[in-house]
This record gives sequence, structure tokens and C-alpha cells, in this order.
Amino acid sequence: MELRIRRNRCAEVALLPRFELNFALVCVKVLLVLLILEAALATTKEFRLQVQVLEQDKENTVSHSCIHDQIIEQRKRPGRKVYSVSAQVYAEPDVFKSRQRRGRVLLDVSERPKRHTDAKQPIRIYLNYDAVGHSSDRDCRNVGDIVKLGEPTGASYSGKPSCNPQGDPPIFGDCWYNCTQDDIAGVDKKHRLRKALEQTADWFRRALSVEPVRGNLRLSGYSACGQDGGVQLPREYVEEGVANADLVLLVTTRPTTGNTLAWAVACERDQWGRAIAGHVNVAPRHLTAEAETLLSATLIHEVTHVLGFDPHAFAHFRDERKKKANSGDRTSYG
Ligand SMILES: *[C@@H]1O[C@H](CO)[C@@H](O)[C@H](O)[C@H]1NC(C)=O
Repeated sequence: MELRIRRNRCAEVALLPRFELNFALVCVKVLLVLLILEAALATTKEFRLQVQVLEQDKENTVSHSCIHDQIIEQRKRPGRKVYSVSAQVYAEPDVFKSRQRRGRVLLDVSERPKRHTDAKQPIRIYLNYDAVGHSSDRDCRNVGDIVKLGEPTGASYSGKPSCNPQGDPPIFGDCWYNCTQDDIAGVDKKHRLRKALEQTADWFRRALSVEPVRGNLRLSGYSACGQDGGVQLPREYVEEGVANADLVLLVTTRPTTGNTLAWAVACERDQWGRAIAGHVNVAPRHLTAEAETLLSATLIHEVTHVLGFDPHAFAHFRDERKKKANSGDRTSYG
């Protein structure tokens, strides 16, 4: 994957074009440091609870917490799959093609190997909203509906543990949630959701280039994609695949507690460990006009987690030749 920051705030600071790359690199580094810091802080749950309580004290300050690590920990519980693997077909890199031909073709003066960067194209993120409002045990449809948040014990509502948006009592997962008016994704909220996610997909198209999938993106649909019950992939995505896509995001609008605005997780990877499908949840409570800027920033942050900025995904990172970065026989590749 190639990260190309073009039109973000950090790059705009650059006065001369040749400095742009330096600024972009600084920007990426800052992003990485922030994510690593976040991962480190998230390991101490007490600290996070303190932060949430502190943030709730500041009534007019808009803030959000990231529960990504908590989600990943939940996915590692026995009997749960972190993600499934579906092999994809990619165009053969031009570098290999020209190398193969060199041995057989004697007079090949006219053909010049294409520039390596030509192999990469802006990432195509396909957004699917089919699941919005269609999960009866998890989506708020009416005020007073009791829905599942996380995986509370017992098959049906038992009253305990119960939770609410105020975080009082301070229960932030695996509980029965009592829906309020703000938790229902009406027409306005659905419109804001689409707008924000389309902007996010657009941001990534400008910032990130990948080796494009050749033909349809193939998904396995082996189990529900994502977290907290996840989302079932449409059958045609599995049987025929998804055209013009490098990453499919299945969107839900299920409630969250505390100040968690949205969360996201990868659910399928290709044979090289690249994320090809993920689940993004945005809490209807935060789909307001006031939270628009914060929402955009949060969604970019969340999709970055899907794409691999996740301490648990670092082991899947590959170098240019798709060799695992931290495998033992590094010497043979220099
Ligand atoms: C849910 O909240 C409403 C409003 O606060 C309340 O009247 C109702 O009893 C609650 N339902 C449950 C099952 O606790």
C-alpha cells in the first residue's frame, strides 16, 4: 500500500512543491505516533474510564473515545474468528512481466518497462447500507426498545446489565440498552451518514493508492462480517463478488454508550493480509449537524483502523515484494 497525502491540512503548509513530500511524511509519522499512543493508553482500562468520566464532565466539549482495541480483544475470545481470508486476483506487476520476457525475447527494443507506480490506483471503497435499521435486536426503531450492545449474557432481555447513553451506571459494553429518540436513525440522520461516509471514501481515494483487484472483489461470507453480531454479507457479494471495489464497508447505525461516536473493524483480508471487507458502525446519537466536523475526522480515523493501523495487524504487514516484514529469513531479501 502506498500512502499519498495530497490535499490535507498538513500538506497545505508546504510552500514549495519539493517540500510537500517531507510535510506529508511528517504528517504520516504524527498519525502513527498518535495511533501507537492510543493503543498504549487503551491497554489500561482504568485510564480509559477516567478519561471518559473527565470528558463527560466537560459538558460542552465535543469529544470521542476510540474503542478499537477493546473490539479487537473481544474478537480474540475463544470461538470467535478475528477475520477470514479470501484470495484476490491482482494484475501481474509489470516488473515481473518484463523480467520473465527478458529471457525469451531477443529483440525487444520497443518495449520499455512501465514505471512501478503505474501498478497502483486510488483505492475504491464500496459502501453498503443494506443493514442500516434492519437488525431488530440491535437497531433502535422506537423509543423504549431494548437492544443488545455487545454480547450481554442470556438470549433475551433479562434487565441486567442495563445501560444508557449517559453512562450511568458506567457500563460501556455487553449490556441491554434502552433506546431514546436520539438513537433512532431517521431520514436526516441517514442522509448525514451517507454524506459523511462518501466524503470519507473520497478522502481515501485521494490519499491512498493500492494494487487494484482484477475483476470482482471476492468475499467469502463465511461468518457475519464485523463486531457485535456483525453484518451478513449479501449472497451476490459471495457468489459474484463486488465490481469496481478494493474494500467493501458494511455500515450499521447501532447505539453506543459514553462518547463513542463510531467504531470499525476489518473482517476479511486477502492472501497478503490486506483488508478487503470491514464493518463500520456510527451511533445515530452523534449524527447531528453540530458533530459533522468531528464525525468526518472520526470516520477517517476509524477506516484507517480497518486498513491496518492496528497493533494486531502489524504482523501482517508486507514489504514491496509481499514479503512479511518481520519474518525470520529477512536476509535473503536484504
Ligand atoms: C426505558 O426508558 C424509559 C424512559 O426513561 C422508561 O420509561 C422505561 O421504563 C425504560 N424501560 C426499561 C425496560 O427499563
